[in-house]
Order: sequence, then structure tokens, then C-alpha cells
Amino acid sequence: MKIAGIISLMVTLFVILSGCKKEDSDNNASMTSVHNETESHNNGEACMSCHNSGGSGEGSFNVAGSVYTEDLSTANANGTVYLYSGQNGTGTLVATIEVDGKGNFFTTASVIPAAGVYAQVKGASGNVKNMSQLFTSGNCNSCHGVGTAKIWVN
Ligand code: HEC
Ligand code: HEC
Repeated sequence: MKIAGIISLMVTLFVILSGCKKEDSDNNASMTSVHNETESHNNGEACMSCHNSGGSGEGSFNVAGSVYTEDLSTANANGTVYLYSGQNGTGTLVATIEVDGKGNFFTTASVIPAAGVYAQVKGASGNVKNMSQLFTSGNCNSCHGVGTAKIWVN
């Protein structure tokens, strides 16, 4: 009984762990979001929990997240995310990532330097918000919507 219990536990664990992987997904795909595109999904979730080198999602993202309007539930489509070396849009513009037609943005390109970046998010309307802290993780939704508010701009 004990052995059988251990075996069934191991089988269960294997099923759970292998369920996170999909052998035929292309983790080496190069992908970057563009305005109006609607292939993304799972707004608000931490994209890189699946879109990583061994994960189920296609492409291993280096930067990804979701943008909302002030109500924190309406997706804010077709804006732009800028990553700068300095605060409030100063220094060098390190990367520009278009927010897609579903309000999500993503890129598999390794755009964040070791020194970190400051984010600026511009809504399609032209309104701008800046993140004041320097960060090195591009998994924006791992903080936004978890320990801090969702990313929003009107
Ligand atoms: C729970 C796991 C999971 C999460 C979280 C997740 N994805 Fe995915 N994603 C997948 C899987 C699996 C696929 C491939 C199958 C499909 O299209 O549903 C995929 C497909 C995609 C595609 C389409 C790729 C193509 O070329 O067809 C895009 C774009 C995408 N995801 C973006 C995102 C973004 C942006 C986020 C975060 C807001 C995200 N995903 C969160 C698992 C996930
Ligand atoms: C390590 C956690 C973390 C990560 C990763 C992160 N953020 Fe933030 N973000 C915060 C915190 C905390 C604040 C609030 C304090 C501040 O502005 O620095 C914030 C603030 C912001 C703001 C300003 C919010 C407001 O209402 O003024 C924007 C815009 C923003 N982040 C965008 C992003 C984008 C885009 C990414 C990914 C490219 C990202 N953040 C990654 C933690 C994070």
C-alpha cells in the first residue's frame, strides 16, 4: 500500500509537471507584439510563467505584460511601452514595444540590459505614465496586479 501510494504520487507529480510543457511548442520563435494584432491572451497573467524556455507558451518572452485603463479592467489597446536608461523618459531609449490590439505587449528579444531600465507607458490617446523604480525583470505582470496595481494609462 505504501509503495503504491508513493508510485501514484509520483505519477500524479509527473502528470502535473509534464502538463506545464508542450513538446511541440516553439520556444525559439522570435515574437514581438505590434499594434492591432490580436493573437495574445490571458491579460493580467504573468506571461513568462508559460512563455519561458521550457514552458508551454510559444516563444520565450523577455518583456511582457498588459495595459489597462483607469478602471483596471478595460484593456488599453494599441499604446506603446518604452524602456529607458533614465527616469521619466530620460537617458537612452533602450526599447520600444507596441501594445497589441488586446492590450498586451511582449517580445522575445533580450532588450533589458544588466543595469536595468525605467518603464514608460503611453496610451493610444497619448497619455503617459512612468515607473519611478529601476527594474531588471521584464515579467511586468509578476508585480503589476500582484503586489502593486495593474499597469494603467488612459
Ligand atoms: C497559462 C500559460 C500561459 C500564460 C500565462 C500566457 N500564455 Fe500565451 N500562450 C500559451 C500557450 C500554450 C500558447 C500556444 C497555444 C495557444 O495559442 O493558445 C500561447 C500563445 C500565445 C500567443 C500566440 C502565439 C502565436 O504565434 O500563435 C501569444 C501572442 C501569447 N501567447 C501571448 C501571451 C501574453 C502577452 C501573455 C501574458 C499577458 C500570455 N501569453 C500568457 C500559454 C500561456
Ligand atoms: C519588480 C516589480 C515590478 C516590475 C517587474 C515592473 N514593475 Fe512597474 N511598478 C512597480 C511598482 C512597485 C510601481 C509603483 C512605484 C513606481 O512607480 O516605481 C510600478 C509603477 C509602474 C508604472 C507607473 C504606475 C502609475 O500609476 O504611476 C508603470 C507605467 C509601470 N510600473 C510599468 C511597468 C512595465 C511596463 C513593466 C515591465 C516592462 C513594469 N512596470 C515592471 C513594480 C514593478
